[in-house]
Amino acid sequence: MCGIVGYIGKRDVAPLLLEGLQRLEYRGYDSAGIVITGKAAAGRPGTLKMVKAKGRVRELESRVPKRFAGTTGIAHTRWATHGAPSDENAHPHMDAENKVAVVHNGIIDNASELRTRLTADGVVFLSETDTEVLTHLIARAQADTLEEKVREALRHVEGTYGVAVLHADFNDRIVVARNGSPVVLGIGEKEMFVASDVAALVAHTRQVVTLDDGEMATLKADDFRTYTTEGSTTTATPTTVEWEAESYDMGGHDTYMHKEISEQADAVDRVLRGRIDDRFSTVHLGGLNLDAREARGVRRIKILGCGTSYHAGQIGAQLIEELARIPADAEPASEFRYRNPVVDPDTLYVAVSQSGETYDVLAAVQELKRKGARVLGVVNVVGSAIAREADGGTYVHAGPEVCVVSTKCFTNTVVAFALLALHLGRIRDLSVADGKRIIDGLRRLPEQISEILANEDEIKRLAAEYADAKSMMFIGRVRGYPVAREASLKLKEVSYIHAEAYPASELKHGPLALIEPAMPTVAIVPDDDLLEKNRAAMEEIKARSGRILAVAHQVQEKADHTIVVPKNENELDPILMGIPLQLFAYHTALAMGRDIDKPRNLAKSVTVE
Ligand code: G6P
Repeated sequence: MCGIVGYIGKRDVAPLLLEGLQRLEYRGYDSAGIVITGKAAAGRPGTLKMVKAKGRVRELESRVPKRFAGTTGIAHTRWATHGAPSDENAHPHMDAENKVAVVHNGIIDNASELRTRLTADGVVFLSETDTEVLTHLIARAQADTLEEKVREALRHVEGTYGVAVLHADFNDRIVVARNGSPVVLGIGEKEMFVASDVAALVAHTRQVVTLDDGEMATLKADDFRTYTTEGSTTTATPTTVEWEAESYDMGGHDTYMHKEISEQADAVDRVLRGRIDDRFSTVHLGGLNLDAREARGVRRIKILGCGTSYHAGQIGAQLIEELARIPADAEPASEFRYRNPVVDPDTLYVAVSQSGETYDVLAAVQELKRKGARVLGVVNVVGSAIAREADGGTYVHAGPEVCVVSTKCFTNTVVAFALLALHLGRIRDLSVADGKRIIDGLRRLPEQISEILANEDEIKRLAAEYADAKSMMFIGRVRGYPVAREASLKLKEVSYIHAEAYPASELKHGPLALIEPAMPTVAIVPDDDLLEKNRAAMEEIKARSGRILAVAHQVQEKADHTIVVPKNENELDPILMGIPLQLFAYHTALAMGRDIDKPRNLAKSVTVE
């Protein structure tokens, strides 16, 4: 999704901003732009210089003139919402006098109404964007200060925004505001940064301030202040970002996806670290804000997430039912929030999100809180909107995930759910022996993940074998079903091969009609109580001349090929069984020459509806 980066200080701003934009590329975008305040004597109005380009940041970079000097600027990567990707629609947007420049993430809902009104007043629009409306509103505001002009303009706007504003007449500052779209200030030594994502800041400073909804800030080179959109001052204490700048580098891998798949043993080690309590065969999750008495009072758990996080939530729901015997299910947050859900006081809601910024999840959390529900967050990005909005929760500690498709964060999220399930289970009916069994299983995970990853050459060979498929079926039963769903999503996201996931038990009720040699099936076949049932499903497929690739704990005779994965406790098997299929999707996409880290039409973090 759209990205914002801004800087005010003493350094040459254009290279800094371009580098920042590159760090945001992973979010997905279709055009980019930069505006800087040209050199001017202090106190005299500066001039704004702007360059924009459809396409990648390197296209923008090639258009930036040699003489493009300045020490204040804002820049943007755009993901089209209002108006197609083009030079004109790229941000920043300026008014007719080139005095005001705005970059904006989010969507202004009443843009067309405002546009009609402004056009009637004689404003000529240069783009089809909603953002340009905001630019003209700021330019026409009567107030004396830039802060008040922005505030005055925002009063007319309905919708979501993270905005950064430059004004030629107020060239000693950048004014920013947030409502529903992330804005993070980076605090440096006699220099200040702003971005929509810490990824753009950590190379320069790890001291950050995350704005709340309804908050604004003024950044000057040696100072910043925060206040509400109504004007009252707020206190903002900088926090330190844990992630190192190097965690955003590719570290010798050709793609972030490969790097992140390879990091999973360490990532799982991190989510377990310091949490296991051997004495009581349970785990400590410090941030849940749910005491034992409250945990016992929970009658149902509802997990909400989108995309891969929703699939992680499905596995999480099964883990909670199995270990804690609390009825649990997962639902796409995007559906939940639109069906006027019945909010039950005895239900614990869990919002799951890698970025902590996905709009549909955030909106579901806000709706739940408004109705008085208790909401936990299972989130990767520390201090993100969902983490802050929730009553408590747990971080999944996967480290930064840059590739648009999620891999290590999925695995860590599922492990975090296993911890939550174990914690709830041990407060309720899970025995000490079972608690210990699960803890031992969790401790085996990092080594078993390394074992799976060591099999990459074989998985690569199998990917080549199946890469001619136009369409693939993924099946699994109970614990295997969400694994099949996530594996199918991974393949389609990154290779663009059509893939469907079905419960193996449902095959005979319809999808069996699709089976033929050109439609291979990936079957998730754990060595558990449903093994025979899964073998029967494979038999049905073989009888229709279907090809089968099994992911199993032992070689499956009915399958054409088997990827053998190490066995863990039955409940924890789903954590491991998806990992070889991440590599399978990766190598299939690689063989097909796909843009692996930035699949077409997708964004890492969907911060709009
Ligand atoms: C986007 C990404 C998906 C991701 C989903 C939820 O659609 O392309 O990979 O799973 O958002 O993201 P979140 O940050 O909430 O986990």
